[in-house]
Amino acid sequence: MPLTSTAIRASFFDFSDIAHEPEAIMAQARYIEDGVLLLEAGRIVGLHAWASLPHLPSSLIDLRGSLIVPGFVDTHIHYPQTEMIGAYGEQLLTWLNQYTFPVESQYHSADHAAAMSAFFLQQLLANGTTSALVFGTVHPQSVEALFSAAEAIDMRLIAGKVMMDRNAPEELLETPEQSYAETRALIERWHGRGRLSYALTPRFAPTSTPALLKKVQQLRQEFPDVWLHTHLSENPQEVAWVKSLFPQYDGYLDVYHRHQLTGRRSLFAHCLHLEEHEWQCLHETDSAIAFCPTSNLFLGSGLFSLKRSWQQRVKIGIGTDIGAGTTFNMLKTLGEAYKVGQLQQYRLSAAEAFYHATLGGAHALDQHDKTGNFAPGKEADFVVLDRAVSPLQQLRMSNSKDIWEQLFVLMTLGDDRNIAETWINGRAVWRRDDAKEQS
Ligand code: GUN
Ligand code: ZN
Repeated sequence: MPLTSTAIRASFFDFSDIAHEPEAIMAQARYIEDGVLLLEAGRIVGLHAWASLPHLPSSLIDLRGSLIVPGFVDTHIHYPQTEMIGAYGEQLLTWLNQYTFPVESQYHSADHAAAMSAFFLQQLLANGTTSALVFGTVHPQSVEALFSAAEAIDMRLIAGKVMMDRNAPEELLETPEQSYAETRALIERWHGRGRLSYALTPRFAPTSTPALLKKVQQLRQEFPDVWLHTHLSENPQEVAWVKSLFPQYDGYLDVYHRHQLTGRRSLFAHCLHLEEHEWQCLHETDSAIAFCPTSNLFLGSGLFSLKRSWQQRVKIGIGTDIGAGTTFNMLKTLGEAYKVGQLQQYRLSAAEAFYHATLGGAHALDQHDKTGNFAPGKEADFVVLDRAVSPLQQLRMSNSKDIWEQLFVLMTLGDDRNIAETWINGRAVWRRDDAKEQS
């Protein structure tokens, strides 16, 4: 049960509104050095400066010294790839065949899926991630297990079973009819149940026949409020392969677009090699991109252009893309995003980085009316950060002049040690010190 009438005293940082250009981000930022967050029945009631509180709360959780930010939103992650992070030496297409498909084959076992779901959710919480858009495997039981585990902690999660019917090992393939029927049953069982939502999850164009894509299209028409989650334009060989598999289409995105799979709740991971008309299509359809810096660097896929995404007015969120990505930790992921920017003469500010990881990510997932900041009525999902947990961090923090420099140091030197507590729906579901005691 969510706690009622909780008051927490700490420092707070969030963004009050959506930004449509980078210049607007600073204007939306809010930092309250000594503040109080009021919660009731899992919702935010208000955030006030301590000095302006009309009356003192009857009980208070005193976290002075900590910095509380909205829970991190991971807009692209594969839970069944947790056990294969750091697979050596290959780029996308051989990496999939050599490492990914064999690991995903194990998820025919409901027991394996349940054990890995529990492990996966613990990793998200230990890293301050309160909301995610998640790939399962082709097996419906993979998604059953994940949704069941997320429901037990009342987490806001969007997930779906992979749909694929070609160019993968036999044991991971299905027919379009089977894919339709199993996906439909999962939608009916899980979509809109508590804080869970369903995403249609065709893996990517190369593992989809035209008949499968037609089934995805049919499901989207039958269930217009479900999400669509796939990969797009990650690797040059992949892009060339799509063009040879679908020669009658005007490029990679057009394969999805002509099946009506673009739109407000469509999320395309990567988008590193888009053509001008593809950017325009993403903008016009209000589709969103998941920028996955550690994955893009690890697989040598390319450099995402944040500058271009602002110019073309396409929403983006940050994805860890485990297991091509190399960390569950959003602070470390933001640090890598900064380096991707540096290689393109783009200066990613701490304000912009934290925006994408919180309210911007919630906007990319069309969840900004429910999560992403401390506005009254929002669901109380947040993370309590320790600004410094090592001699080096303490030295560097003591040498930081303001909150902007502190946030930038957090994304440069921070990691899971900085995540003190993770709260979901008004309840602390993870505490670093409890976890330490148990280990
Ligand atoms: N493209 C198709 N499948 C995958 C996957 O599992 N990971 C990544 N990074 N790209 C993909
Ligand atoms: Zn991915």
